[in-house]
Amino acid sequence: MSVVVLIGAQWGDEGKGKITDFLARQADIVVRYQGGNNAGHTVVVGEEEYRLHLIPSGILYPEKMCLIGNGVVIDPAVLVAELEYLQKKGIATDNLRISPRAHLIMPYHKKLDEVQEEKKGQNKIGTTRRGIGPAYMDKAARTGIRVVDLLDRDEFARKLENNLEDVNFLLKRVYEVDGFDFEEVFNEYMRYAEILRPYVADTSVILHEALEAEKKILFEGAQGTLLDLDHGTYPYVTSSHPTAGAACIGAGIGPTEIDKAVGVIKAYTTRVGEGPFPTELKDEIGQHLREMGREYGTTTGRPRRCGWFDGVAARYAARINGLDSFALTKLDVLTGVETIKICVGYRFQGEVLREFPASLKVLTQCEPIYEELPGWAEDISGARDFSDLPQAAQNYVRRIEEITGTRVSLIGVGTRRSQTIVREEIF
Ligand code: IMP
Repeated sequence: MSVVVLIGAQWGDEGKGKITDFLARQADIVVRYQGGNNAGHTVVVGEEEYRLHLIPSGILYPEKMCLIGNGVVIDPAVLVAELEYLQKKGIATDNLRISPRAHLIMPYHKKLDEVQEEKKGQNKIGTTRRGIGPAYMDKAARTGIRVVDLLDRDEFARKLENNLEDVNFLLKRVYEVDGFDFEEVFNEYMRYAEILRPYVADTSVILHEALEAEKKILFEGAQGTLLDLDHGTYPYVTSSHPTAGAACIGAGIGPTEIDKAVGVIKAYTTRVGEGPFPTELKDEIGQHLREMGREYGTTTGRPRRCGWFDGVAARYAARINGLDSFALTKLDVLTGVETIKICVGYRFQGEVLREFPASLKVLTQCEPIYEELPGWAEDISGARDFSDLPQAAQNYVRRIEEITGTRVSLIGVGTRRSQTIVREEIF
């Protein structure tokens, strides 16, 4: 298999960074295709911890090519800072390429994200406030500014001037906050342009050449299926498509090129931001999972809401993404939990639902139907083969496979690259 799409199968934060990093060893190219710096990956290599938001984690391997595809929204301030961060840590960044078709996050997108969230009050989405939604709104409204424009002073100036006219009106008159000064934004972005210029290249062409040469390509999804603009818990979603199908549009390849889709799924469930979460635990078990799993956002530091594994949502993710298998992460976090629950269905007004509902009103009122499995107390962080796991842990994994109808190919038992059980090779 040479082209693999790796996506989040829950509400994001499934531990994709670790799995991407693990698979990147075998890949020649690692590609981001949607989202922006709302994502956050923590990768642990030896004693060193790396936090990345935009650059694919494949950058930690000097010989891998890393691409930021056209479907990503790029905050150049963040990208430049991330390049400097990596260079300071001695990581070479020459193998990064950025699509000229990717859209830019502008300072006013971040401001709009903030004031629009505040205006929503109780109904806020709980966004990361990184300007993601407003940037994708401009893209869809055909007023976005792209990387290719950043490299053309006149074009950039023209577009910025036009946009500021509207945006400043909106900010001042509707939201009653300060607007943005053309010169300031222009000068700041022209500085970024010079730093980023050497990295800009037609990433779709690079991919096609790689496909012809039968290179191994890993598409790295950000966020998760239930945050997908179409398939997630709308409107409590992000503004892009974290699902596998989006890899084609967000990178400029056809669907016939993809060989495999793998969904990263945590051994329990977490969610940040607002929105329904049927298996949420507001008790001491939820607190225990948060502490043991270090469930605090990489991007915003917010504590994540924690709950039991949701088999209905996982089966939905398997269907929407056409998953070949799951990479199950953080199984070690469940160690010591006496009785583990798995949600196998939802009860809604006396009826049993087996499929994930479209209506948020329905989802909010769903009661999870749980199955109970005995837990295990043994330390599993040293397990490297499935048979090293205690019987109860093996049973838990097998039950997840049965409920979701999807094999579990990889199992994470700790934060390090080496703490991974491989049941089936991905590449
Ligand atoms: P936005 O993407 O900043 O617009 O936020 C929309 C929703 O997606 C909020 O609930 C965020 O908490 C959530 N979100 C965005 N990025 C991530 C992520 O990388 N992990 C988990 N949740 C995310």
